Amino acid sequence: MEDMKDIQWFPGHMAKTRRMIQKSLPLVDAVAELLDARLPLSSRNPEFDRLTRRKPRLVILNKADMADPVLTQQWVEYYQKRGAAVITADSKSGKGVKSFAPALRRLLAPQLAKYEARGMKGRPIRVMILGIPNVGKSSLINRLAGGKRAKAEDRAGVTRVQQWIKIDGGVELLDTPGVLWPKLEDQEVACRLAFTGAVRDEVLDTEALAARLLVFLHQQYPKALEERYRIAPDCTYETGFALLEQMAKNRGMLLSGGVPNTERAAIAVIDEFRGVKLGRITLERPEDQRTPQTASQQNGVDHGKKASDGADGTV
Ligand code: G4P
Repeated sequence: MEDMKDIQWFPGHMAKTRRMIQKSLPLVDAVAELLDARLPLSSRNPEFDRLTRRKPRLVILNKADMADPVLTQQWVEYYQKRGAAVITADSKSGKGVKSFAPALRRLLAPQLAKYEARGMKGRPIRVMILGIPNVGKSSLINRLAGGKRAKAEDRAGVTRVQQWIKIDGGVELLDTPGVLWPKLEDQEVACRLAFTGAVRDEVLDTEALAARLLVFLHQQYPKALEERYRIAPDCTYETGFALLEQMAKNRGMLLSGGVPNTERAAIAVIDEFRGVKLGRITLERPEDQRTPQTASQQNGVDHGKKASDGADGTV
């Protein structure tokens, strides 16, 4: 998409996070990487592994309430196979959040046994939370901490001391999560993030975005499209834009002279997708990965199949 070229990866913000990670890494036992369960690849920062070196990792597939449960289970296995502990969560309602501390204890069992052998029983586990904007870091921390979240000390001339928030299960969280940035130069990644609202709307062409989302839905979730917009699973169309026109007609979104109001239809498609009105949908499948995470994927060069490859509807 043409418009995508305007979206930049934010080097200034990343530099700040990099410094924060470097400073905090020696203080923590594990890192908790928050991912959007609808986008378990694109909501990752491709530098994550390099930035956090070999710290034990807990992956939290957040917003699981909005994602396809069958695919979420596949993604749990995908990240488990890559050595991470994995939990699923809905940090808005709090569902799944109670697994956080037990999962960390299981992940760190060997280290905890060593501490215990050295007479350091009861030593807290320290962890920092990392994730892209909007993935739910504050919601998760608030859920984990209850009302105990520390107020950041911000007095002029005083170097702010890192604060820890004690949560249940003998775990302490670094009070400020690290904000990572997705790799937006990759248009496929930028598109998927835009579907979920993780990228600001105004930099995108809504109609092109909605058309692309409709193609994906028609290929991967045809029932949802039939139920919501009466678009038949076996319908033929030339372009995603034709699907958008069809949806506008079926919804009675017409301009004078019966011309489909694709602008209005596009806004509806995007809003309804984000509002889970089309059902619980995941935009990425583990099997779309042609090879296990390779160096090029780590660098964000190849996140799954390209939409232009077409046939399987991967966006
Ligand atoms: P951040 O710190 O990583 O930037 O994310 P934050 O917690 O602010 O969450 C961003 C938005 O995502 C919020 O919605 C929040 O409620 C929602 N959210 C976070 N986790 C979940 C989840 O697991 N499931 C669902 N369904 N939503 C989640 P908002 O619209 O900005 O605010 P509001 O709806 O809470 O008023």
